[in-house]
Amino acid sequence: MNQSLLVTRTDDGVTTELREELFLGDGDMLVDVSHSSLNYKDAMALRGDQGVMRVDPLVPGIDVVGTDAESGRLVTVNGAGLGEFRHGGYTTQQRVPADAAIPVPERFDAWHAAAIGTAGFTAAMSVVALREQGVTDGEVLVTGATGGVGSIAVHLLARLGYDVVASTGRPEHGDWLRDLGAGALIGREDEKGRPLQKARWAGVVDCVGSHTLVNACAQTVWGGTVTACGLAQGPDLPATVLPFILRGVKLVGINSVDAPRLVRERAWELLDATLDLNVLTGLTSTISLSDVVSAGEELMNGQRRGRTVVETA
Ligand SMILES: NC(=O)c1ccc[n+]([C@@H]2O[C@H](COP(=O)([O-])OP(=O)(O)OC[C@H]3O[C@@H](n4cnc5c(N)ncnc54)[C@H](OP(=O)(O)O)[C@@H]3O)[C@@H](O)[C@H]2O)c1
Repeated sequence: MNQSLLVTRTDDGVTTELREELFLGDGDMLVDVSHSSLNYKDAMALRGDQGVMRVDPLVPGIDVVGTDAESGRLVTVNGAGLGEFRHGGYTTQQRVPADAAIPVPERFDAWHAAAIGTAGFTAAMSVVALREQGVTDGEVLVTGATGGVGSIAVHLLARLGYDVVASTGRPEHGDWLRDLGAGALIGREDEKGRPLQKARWAGVVDCVGSHTLVNACAQTVWGGTVTACGLAQGPDLPATVLPFILRGVKLVGINSVDAPRLVRERAWELLDATLDLNVLTGLTSTISLSDVVSAGEELMNGQRRGRTVVETA
């Protein structure tokens, strides 16, 4: 049976309905979709957020995992405008841009690929960036650590031998973060700090932005690298240039949506080489299309952790 979750903005607000029909977007590859996932951006689209929901109505779902209808190959597409500028993965069939469709490594099945999803792909892009900038060892801070990007980043970094410090606003999940590989925990930092602070981090994977990102830069060692992918705390960056001009700190932006194919392939290679499937399974829950709206609200209210796979078929 064909089905799609459709979000529509109306004068009275936003409606979401499960429809027994397809809404095919643009794209040169037709995918029989079996799984998608729930990311921060999906939760925003489900609320009708105008910054994410760029067409109306919209089938959300920034991840598409399924079989290429032509070749029969299992593929994953993360971002590429899906669930934002064009209909996405909360459906049973979708058109996608072939250039962004990555063959799922053999070690992973469709559920694994969706559990990784944009969040895991972004975590891997961040780790690749740290390594490309020469962060080979030492303490690495991960902010928003219980989230999708954060939790997978904690795990990948620990597997690669870094001393991972998890920053979280939810210390009740401390044991869970330690099991993922965090060697130490620190609390969420949402206060403005001094422009230069005690230098501690060889690298940072920041998922939250705002004062947390500014403080992370101020606490990074000479020549260290900070990656910025998120805005869960805010899109602002109330910083000074001091960490950059006095410590040579590098700030690297991470954009998974428009990542070129080579960047996508490198990130998926790192995931293939590094991710422990038992750990991935342990940090992921599974829901159906009919549960997506309530799970999206939970995510926005800080009531979920790790990753959520959405079964579409
Ligand atoms: N640039 C890209 O291509 C890209 C790709 C994927 C995601 N992102 C962005 O990355 C961020 C994380 O995405 P996600 O899917 O991992 O979301 P998520 O699962 O909701 O995780 C976000 C985490 O941020 C922390 N957080 C929430 N509210 C906060 C606040 N007010 N102040 C400080 N920390 C807060 C929480 O961690 P703790 O409770 O542990 O503190 C939460 O678990 C989002 O902003 C998302 O838009 C960007």
